[in-house]
Amino acid sequence: MAVPTARRRFLRLALVAIIFLISYLLLGPTDYIAAKTQWHNLKYIPSSYDWGKRQQVHPVDMSAMARLPEGTPRQLSRIQHKFSADDLSSSHSKTRGARRDAVKRAAMKSWKAYREYAWGQDEVAPQSLVGVDSFAGWGATLVDSLDTLWIMGLRREFYEAVRHVGRIDWNNATSPYCSLFETNIRYLGGLLSAYDLSQEKILLDKAVELGDMLYAGFDTLNHMPANSFNFEQAKEGKLVADKHESSAAAGTLSLEFTRLSQLTGDPKYYNAIAGVTRALERTQDSTNLPGMWPVFIDLWSGFRATGTDFSLGASSDSAYEYLSKMYALLGGLEPSYEKLHTKAMAAAKKHLLFRPMLPEMFPGTAPDILFSGTALSNGQIVELQPEVQHLGCFAGGMFALGGRLFNQEDHVRIGEQLARGCAWAYHAFPTGIMPEVSEVIPCEKKRDGVDGNDDFPRCAWNESRWKAHGEHVVRFPKGFVAVRGPEYHLRPEAIESIFILYRITGKADLLDVAWRMFESIKEATETRHAYSAISDVQTTGRTTKIDSMESFWIAETLKYFYLIFSEPDLISLDDYVFNTEAHPLRIPKPADSRVKGDT
Ligand SMILES: *[C@@H]1O[C@H](CO)[C@@H](O)[C@H](O)[C@H]1NC(C)=O
Ligand SMILES: *[C@@H]1O[C@H](CO)[C@@H](O)[C@H](O)[C@H]1NC(C)=O
Repeated sequence: MAVPTARRRFLRLALVAIIFLISYLLLGPTDYIAAKTQWHNLKYIPSSYDWGKRQQVHPVDMSAMARLPEGTPRQLSRIQHKFSADDLSSSHSKTRGARRDAVKRAAMKSWKAYREYAWGQDEVAPQSLVGVDSFAGWGATLVDSLDTLWIMGLRREFYEAVRHVGRIDWNNATSPYCSLFETNIRYLGGLLSAYDLSQEKILLDKAVELGDMLYAGFDTLNHMPANSFNFEQAKEGKLVADKHESSAAAGTLSLEFTRLSQLTGDPKYYNAIAGVTRALERTQDSTNLPGMWPVFIDLWSGFRATGTDFSLGASSDSAYEYLSKMYALLGGLEPSYEKLHTKAMAAAKKHLLFRPMLPEMFPGTAPDILFSGTALSNGQIVELQPEVQHLGCFAGGMFALGGRLFNQEDHVRIGEQLARGCAWAYHAFPTGIMPEVSEVIPCEKKRDGVDGNDDFPRCAWNESRWKAHGEHVVRFPKGFVAVRGPEYHLRPEAIESIFILYRITGKADLLDVAWRMFESIKEATETRHAYSAISDVQTTGRTTKIDSMESFWIAETLKYFYLIFSEPDLISLDDYVFNTEAHPLRIPKPADSRVKGDT
C-alpha cells in the first residue's frame, strides 16, 4: 500500500509543477505573482491611532443633531442628453475609440512612472523621477487615481493599489499637519468613489478611519472647520477655525461627509457640514454682494462674511460647485441647497459673467462665449475685474448642471458659453493651452437684471481699445491684455466643463474640441516617462517643463478626457455627482431605498 502512495505523490507533484510552468509561461512572471497576491491577499490593517474612539473636547449637542433628510429620494430632472443610435453611430464614433485609447495610454504611462519611481508617495516628479510628498505622504496619487484605474478597466493596477491602501496609516504622516480641504477632496473623495464603484470593503474601512480623523477638524469652539489640521492639536481638541479662511475650504466638505454618512448610517459627518450650510444660508443675503460669499471668510468668529472680493475662481470655486451637487446627492430632499445655488448663480450671472471683446474676421462673426471674472464690492459699488482663471473654467459645467437640475434652460446655455470660452482661450495660445491667469476686455453689459438672450450683448472688435492697454499687448493673442500666470499645471477644469456640456447637450463638435485640447496638452507636457506642468503656454516650439505632475492629472484631467470619448452611460451624470477632484459619488436612487426597506 505504501508503494503506490509514494508514486502518486510524485505524479501529483509533477502535475503541480507542470501547471505552474504553463501558468508562468502564459502569464509571465510578474503577472502570475501579481494576480495571486493582488486578488487574493487584500488585507485591512487599521491605523495606529483610532480617531473614531477619540472623545470630543467640544461635544456636539445631540438633541440638535442634523440628520440626513428622510424619505424616498425624488426622481430628479434628467441631466444627460438622450443619446440616440444616430448620435452614437455618427462619424465621430469611429474616431472615438481610438481617441479613448490614446487617453488611456497617457494614463498608463503616467501611472507606470508613479508606480516605478514614487510608489506610496504623494507624487512623482516627472523629469527627475523622484517621489515627492506634498500631501502628508499617504500616497496622494495612489488614492486619487483609484477610480480612474477602475473606470479604465485597469483592474490589476487597481487591486495592487487597493492592497497598498489597506496598509495606509493615517497616523504616520510626513508632516505635522495636513490641509483638511485637500485631504478631504483627494483622499476621502478618492476612497469613497473607488468604494462606490468597486464595493471593495477595505476602501470604505479606510474612508471611515480618515473621515473620523477629519471629523476632529470640526471639534473647535464654534464647530467651524479648522483647515490647518495639526495632528497633535487635533487629538487634544485644540484646533481653531481660521480668521481668514477661503470659502472653498469651508464649503467643500459637504459632498464627501454626506456620502460617508449615507454609507455608514452615522449622521455625525452630515451634522458637521450642516453647520456650515446653515451659516451659508444665514449670510447669503447680507454680504457685500448678496447671493455670493466673499472669497475669504472669518470662521473664527463663527462665520463673518464681510470681505469685498467675489469670484468663482481660486479659493471659492468648489464652495459654489457643491451646492447643486448636494441637492442631487440628497435625492432632492433638502430644498435649502436649491435656494443657495439659485441665488448664488443669479448674483454670479449679474456681476461676474461677461462677454469678452473678440477679434473677428467680419463684424458679428466672433464666437458666442462668456468668461467669469472677479467682482470687487463694498456693498455700494461693484467693479468687475475681467480676469480669466483656468481654475474658474469649471463654472461652465456648474451652470449647465444646475440648469438641468433646476430646469433653468438659460443656465444650460450660459454653461455652454462659458465652456466654449475656455476652449477658445486654449485655441488662442501657441501651445493650444490657456494660461493659469490672464485678462481680457469685457463688452459693456446690460445691468438691468432682465433675463433674456441679450443679457450679454456683443461688441465689435476695436483694435485701438485693445492697444490702449499698452504696447506690450501685441505680444499676446488678440483679445488678451495681460497674462499674469503663464503656466499650465495639467489642470482639468476646461475639459471638465466640455465633458459635462457634451453629456448634457449631446453636441458632437465638443468631441473635436476635446480632442484638440488633448493633443495640445500631450504635445506640450509629455516627458520621457510621464507628463509635466509647463512654465509658459505662450512658448512656440519646445516648452519648459517644471517637473511637477500633481495627483489631479490622473484623477481628473485624464479621467474627463477618457469619459468624454467613452459611451455616455459610463458614469452617467444621472447616477453620479463628481466631487471637485472628479471622484464620482453614487446618487441614491428611489429603488435603493425600496431595496433597503424590504430587507
Ligand atoms: C511611516 O511611513 C514611512 C514612509 O513614509 C515608513 O517608512 C515607515 O515605516 C512608517 N512607519 C510606521 C511606524 O508605519
Ligand atoms: C475704439 O476705442 C477707442 C479707444 O478706447 C475709442 O476712442 C474709439 O471711440 C473706439 N471706436 C469705436 C468705433 O467704438
